[in-house]
Amino acid sequence: MAPRCSSSCLLFLLLLGASGFFQSYAVEVDVKDASNATCLYAEWMMRFLIKYETNSSDYKNATLNLSSSVTHNGSVCGNDTQAALLAVQFGEGHSWSVNFTKTNETYQGDFVTFTYNTNDTAVFPDAKRKGPVTIVVKAVMRPVQLNNVFVCHNTDFLEAENVTQIFWNVTVQAFVQNGTISKKESRCRADTPTSAPTVPPTTANVTTASTTTLSPAPTTAPKPVENPDTGNYSLKSGNKTCLLATVGLQLNVSQDKPLLININPKTTSADGTCGNRTATLKLNDGNTTLIGFTFVKNESANVQKFYLKEVNVTLLNRLNGSVISSADNNNFSKWDAFLGSSYMCRKEQTLQVNEDLQIHTFNLWIQPFLVKENKFSTAEECLADSDLNFLIPIAVGMALGFLIILVFISYIIGRRKSRTGYQSV
Ligand SMILES: *[C@@H]1O[C@H](CO)[C@@H](O)[C@H](O)[C@H]1NC(C)=O
Ligand SMILES: *[C@@H]1O[C@H](CO)[C@@H](O)[C@H](O)[C@H]1NC(C)=O
Ligand SMILES: *[C@@H]1O[C@H](CO)[C@@H](O)[C@H](O)[C@H]1NC(C)=O
Ligand SMILES: *[C@@H]1O[C@H](CO)[C@@H](O)[C@H](O)[C@H]1NC(C)=O
Ligand SMILES: *[C@@H]1O[C@H](CO)[C@@H](O)[C@H](O)[C@H]1NC(C)=O
Ligand SMILES: *[C@@H]1O[C@H](CO)[C@@H](O)[C@H](O)[C@H]1NC(C)=O
Ligand SMILES: *[C@@H]1O[C@H](CO)[C@@H](O)[C@H](O)[C@H]1NC(C)=O
Ligand SMILES: *[C@@H]1O[C@H](CO)[C@@H](O)[C@H](O)[C@H]1NC(C)=O
Ligand SMILES: *[C@@H]1O[C@H](CO)[C@@H](O)[C@H](O)[C@H]1NC(C)=O
Ligand SMILES: *[C@@H]1O[C@H](CO)[C@@H](O)[C@H](O)[C@H]1NC(C)=O
Ligand SMILES: *[C@@H]1O[C@H](CO)[C@@H](O)[C@H](O)[C@H]1NC(C)=O
Ligand SMILES: *[C@@H]1O[C@H](CO)[C@@H](O)[C@H](O)[C@H]1NC(C)=O
Repeated sequence: MAPRCSSSCLLFLLLLGASGFFQSYAVEVDVKDASNATCLYAEWMMRFLIKYETNSSDYKNATLNLSSSVTHNGSVCGNDTQAALLAVQFGEGHSWSVNFTKTNETYQGDFVTFTYNTNDTAVFPDAKRKGPVTIVVKAVMRPVQLNNVFVCHNTDFLEAENVTQIFWNVTVQAFVQNGTISKKESRCRADTPTSAPTVPPTTANVTTASTTTLSPAPTTAPKPVENPDTGNYSLKSGNKTCLLATVGLQLNVSQDKPLLININPKTTSADGTCGNRTATLKLNDGNTTLIGFTFVKNESANVQKFYLKEVNVTLLNRLNGSVISSADNNNFSKWDAFLGSSYMCRKEQTLQVNEDLQIHTFNLWIQPFLVKENKFSTAEECLADSDLNFLIPIAVGMALGFLIILVFISYIIGRRKSRTGYQSV
């Protein structure tokens, strides 16, 4: 009775070499139940960027692609009580799976489990540690209406530990009804940037959740010269908010010529870690850009402060997810404020990540440590914001003038009083 992938499970690989420059394999998995009806269907493309330690004790980035021999052992249909599982194995001991659970109305991807094997010398020729490494990423897919097929042509990324998982051209339907893939599509937000997602985000995303809310969508494509929209982002530790950020972000990438890219908060998700001494906010614009901000505490100061120490940016090729450019600067000492307070800078600020990449920030308000009750603590505002600076000399001048007048008036009154005083005697 246990629904299992029958022997007729279809799995085939399409060699896509449109440009002739690269090979990408699309995986198609069609899981059938005991009555030979499709219960779980997926077709997608993926690749992995993995940072690993080499035998000379530095770190290297490897790209792991799907090989031509992919198996799908262990995939399960799932039902009301048991999660569905889509599992594939490829190459020299690598495997990847995602499980799906359902509610009365929706299904969603809950965990991605990825195991890469550094014994694979073709990918990790000089790995220091050899053997399988497993990572698990939570809350990977928003809820989709039951009996809808989820489709996303745009590139999507999952970043966790030392791995970036890249997906594109995804079609998936779990808990397929009557063995027929639905004709109703739920498109990802990146595919339909001007419309709301088909199902509102639920509170199921427990690890980290972007607090971006949907405001009326712009009717025209954003012009990059305009200021970016401001996004609200937060990280959770357990069910407590531990990092809050409000910011509009614009990248200035100098490749052949400077290119301004506005980060769209509606498609950007937040991830990262809150630590005792460091906190990292990672933003993924759901398209091609990954940005990381790392904050640390300055423990040598008398009264503890925090500041922004590191910013890194990775830009990926829209079509195949390969890295176009990657910039990292861990020598910043900006945005500092006392621990327990937040840092605010409404005016535009520039972070020079490297000579080819700048980030402009707008309406910045950030608190990476000691967030209480999901709210920003008192803000320390940047100098650029305080237009009042110019007013201070004026105010002092006015106060002095006022004082002089006051002294003068009291002098006159005093003289009059004493005069009348003399007269009365
Ligand atoms: C769900 O599937 C599991 C295992 O495949 C099975 O043991 C269980 O009885 C099923 N439950 C329902 C409600 O069909
Ligand atoms: C990705 O595509 C670009 C061209 O579109 C190509 O130059 C690059 O080599 C490709 N990278 C990979 C890893 O396939
Ligand atoms: C399932 O269906 C396929 C064709 O759709 C057929 O070739 C296969 O024999 C069937 N398997 C079972 C167990 O009925
Ligand atoms: C690191 O591994 C490579 C490949 O196995 C090997 O050629 C090289 O000699 C090793 N280097 C060190 C320092 O062990
Ligand atoms: C991930 O990278 C960090 C350094 O950035 C390293 O300390 C850690 O051991 C790496 N983890 C794995 C599983 O390779
Ligand atoms: C994604 O799929 C579409 C059609 O479904 C195809 O035209 C396109 O070439 C695919 N993209 C890649 C990078 O394979
Ligand atoms: C599946 O079949 C049942 C009975 O034939 C029908 O009532 C139901 O609407 C069908 N569901 C879908 C999604 O086609
Ligand atoms: C993805 O990035 C490209 C290039 O920067 C941009 O033209 C496009 O509008 C972006 N799409 C979304 C959905 O943000
Ligand atoms: C972001 O949060 C602020 C308050 O912290 C709120 O006023 C604003 O409307 C929020 N913006 C969005 C787009 O949710
Ligand atoms: C973008 O960066 C380039 C090079 O750093 C610089 O010359 C240019 O002024 C910058 N443009 C904007 C709008 O900041
Ligand atoms: C840390 O605080 C000390 C004392 O206030 C200061 O001299 C130092 O520059 C700060 N370090 C950084 C990296 O901001
Ligand atoms: C950016 O920095 C963070 C924190 O140090 C790190 O986890 C992440 O892997 C880095 N990303 C890139 C693309 O270098």
